[in-house]
Amino acid sequence: MSFLTKHKVLITAGPTHEPIDPVRFIGNRSSGKMAYAIAEVFAEAGAVVVLVSGPVQLQANHPNIQVVPVETAAQMYDACHQYYSSCQIAVLAAAVADYTVANPADKKIKKQGDNLTLELVQTKDILMSLGQVKSNEQVLIGFALETNDAIANAKKKLLAKNLDFIVLNTLQDEGAGFRHDTNKISIINKYNKITNFELKDKRLVAQDILNYLEEYLREMKVV
Ligand code: CTP
Repeated sequence: MSFLTKHKVLITAGPTHEPIDPVRFIGNRSSGKMAYAIAEVFAEAGAVVVLVSGPVQLQANHPNIQVVPVETAAQMYDACHQYYSSCQIAVLAAAVADYTVANPADKKIKKQGDNLTLELVQTKDILMSLGQVKSNEQVLIGFALETNDAIANAKKKLLAKNLDFIVLNTLQDEGAGFRHDTNKISIINKYNKITNFELKDKRLVAQDILNYLEEYLREMKVV
């Protein structure tokens, strides 16, 4: 019997799409591959997975994965808060928009003038909001995508969002990040311990995260 049997895990995946008008949106290049790989590896290890997913071109291939499709950061926030209290573990790997359009138009915006200005307002930070309601029995895992001062920035996020550990990937590493099937990560835990991993296929990265979690739970004696 696997160590995750009977555990419910919340995972967020993919980008969010913030509407400008009925036919246009602001998005990002997240493919969702890393998060879907985590969902599959965790489900194979016995977990029941709730996968709150932004718009991606992927299918979840395991009967224990329940996909909750969302489009916007606000919908992802609501879905996460709906499921979080019943989950023991949460892995927030989505590339959530930090800003959304203040007043999306309800009709297609017609071309006019040389310039168009959109007013953007900040979205709610889902991970931080879960950190604020997290109980001692829950394990909260975040991701950080950094281009500079990676370790220092990731440590700040770990602390500010009340995480157990954070998975850091930097776009500087060849073959890592959004458009690749491979990734290169470091994990920093709340005791400031840094573990570096080699560049590898995202499925093997997901397995590394699962193994790290198993060790972390054993040491912490939580969950
Ligand atoms: N995150 C989230 N909700 C947001 C923004 C981010 O849940 N509105 C989560 C991401 O899923 C990830 C972590 O926060 O697990 C860090 O995301 P990242 O984009 O690296 O950092 P930000 O906190 O948005 O900070 P910045 O963009 O300034 O680096």
